[in-house]
Amino acid sequence: MVLGSGAGSNFEALANGAADRYEIVAVGSDKAHAPILARARRRAITCFTIAPQDYPDRGTRDAALADAVRRQRPDWIALAGYMRLLGAETLAVAPGHTLNVHPALLPAFPGLHTHRRALSAGAREHGSTVHFVTSELDAGPAILQARLAVRRHETQETLEARVKAMEHRIYPQALGWCTAGRATLRDGAVWLDGRALSEPRIVDETDL
Ligand code: GRF
Repeated sequence: MVLGSGAGSNFEALANGAADRYEIVAVGSDKAHAPILARARRRAITCFTIAPQDYPDRGTRDAALADAVRRQRPDWIALAGYMRLLGAETLAVAPGHTLNVHPALLPAFPGLHTHRRALSAGAREHGSTVHFVTSELDAGPAILQARLAVRRHETQETLEARVKAMEHRIYPQALGWCTAGRATLRDGAVWLDGRALSEPRIVDETDL
């Protein structure tokens, strides 16, 4: 299943890339009007919203989210622009089976506004990372990274568009590796095709 808060372009890419590799059983959001939910409804996928304003505190909200997720019995959870940290209860629903896509070459630029920060830091390379989710923000072991060379006159908007186009390729690929049992998380390391990765697999924009 997929959790997201925003536009849902990565959800769309995951749904388009499903083929016989995986099935998206449900989409959950923290925002009732998030476009990602409209996209899911158009595909007749089960949707739910756990909105923070409906709960007195983080603990009860996380318990409700964990409940809603558990009810879908997902084998894998893919975060696709989900703008909240998962609490311990939700993380425990599919431990080692929860993925995220982050718009930067982690460990560089965890957190928000990655394109702006990459540009102001004068980064020559930028990209996106698919990684396993742990309790630390944007810090879980990375499976696959998409890398691009930052161009002269690049803006946040051009960078975001280039990064998203690459995310739409690498996220279905990495999820497919996971659901096929090719990529796993073992003792804090990513294993791919029977070997521990010392660094994530990398694809360059020029290869896509
Ligand atoms: C993506 O850039 C993803 O890396 C980040 O949030 C954005 C979501 O975009 N985690 P979308 O909603 O999938 O279009």
